[in-house]
Parts: sequence; C-alpha cells; structure tokens
Amino acid sequence: MSIQLGDTAPDFTADTTEGEISFHDWKKDSWAVLFSHPKDFTPVCTTELGYTAKLKDEFAKRNVKVIGLSCDSIEDHEKWAKDIEETQGQLPNFPMIGDADQKVANEYGMIHPNANDTMTVRSVFVVDANDKVRLMITYPASTGRNFDEIIRVIDSLQLTDGHKVATPVNWKQGDDVIIVPALSNDEAKEMFPDGWDEQKPYLRVVKQPS
Ligand code: BEZ
Repeated sequence: MSIQLGDTAPDFTADTTEGEISFHDWKKDSWAVLFSHPKDFTPVCTTELGYTAKLKDEFAKRNVKVIGLSCDSIEDHEKWAKDIEETQGQLPNFPMIGDADQKVANEYGMIHPNANDTMTVRSVFVVDANDKVRLMITYPASTGRNFDEIIRVIDSLQLTDGHKVATPVNWKQGDDVIIVPALSNDEAKEMFPDGWDEQKPYLRVVKQPS
C-alpha cells in the first residue's frame, strides 16, 4: 500500500553523512522534508542540492529539518559534496542518506521501475511535527524541482494549522487567504473579528494572518 497524505511517515534507521539516524527521533517535534535524488555526480541533482543547502535559514525559520536520499554510498555522497560546493558555492548542510540497499527508497515508493529500476525518482515528502505526511510530490529525473515552491506549500500548511485558512491559486506570502470551509460563520467571527470579504458563502477572503 503506498503512502498517502495524512499517513504517519514510516520510521526508519539509516546511515547518513551525519551518522546513523532514526527518522522519527531525528526530526522529533520539527517538520521534515525528506527528498530523493536519482544519483550522485549528476548535473540536475548537483544544482538541487546546492540550492536546498542555501535555503537552510528559510527552513529553520519554519521549524523544518531537511534530509536527502539516493541509492548511493555515503562515501560517494561525501566526495560529491565537494563538487556541489565547487560548482554551486554551497556545501550540503543537511544529512544525506546512503540508501545503497534501497531500503528506505522502497518503503517510501521512491523507485518507479518503469521509469528506472535502480535510481530513485525526484520524490519529496513533507512531514509535520506529528510525523504525518502533508505533501508528496514526484518529479522525473530530468526536471529539477522548485524548492521555493516546497517552502511555499509549507507556509500554506502552517497557516492552515495555525489560523484555519487555506491559500488560493498562485498564493504567495502576504496575499489574501481564504477561511476554510469547515469553519462556520460563527466560529469565523471569533477568529476574524474584523470580518471578511464574502464573495460567495463558501468563498470568504481575509488578509493573511501573521
Ligand atoms: C541529473 O541529475 O542531471 C539526472 C540524473 C538522472 C537522470 C537524468 C538526469
């Protein structure tokens, strides 16, 4: 059975570039981004890991820890890290799982055999502070992901958790948001005493709470 949104993220113990990690213990009360890349010493992956490392402060602000994975050895990860620093101007600053036996990749469905039977696809799992899976995305090997978009979704999820608002199409930080349909008008009055713009009974627009 494949992992679905709302499931508890499977726990695992794995060797990483920062020593052995048990996933749930490592993330504790933080959110986590667990992402796979197809292969070390490949061009698109090199750019992705450099950029993700540059986002360290953005992830930290949101209480998010990042962990990477590919079915390569720790030794390869360590050698490749120097290339990432040289070409992207940033050393990876998060643990990278050496999943040579594909244990974690199989548990998380990161290998899609009809695409490639040895390399992981570009999977991303965002896991919240309660270990629940909140976002899953899958990109092909040839397309680098947009890690700013991953941060945007985390912002949206954290706004929903904290303020009972959803985010509309192409929402970005500071744009208006939408009161979640599950909140009655009476409940909404408590949370949004300044009111809202009721474009339809189900489309109630408010300023983004801070
Ligand atoms: C890359 O990272 O550039 C890449 C990896 C595997 C297949 C295709 C591209």
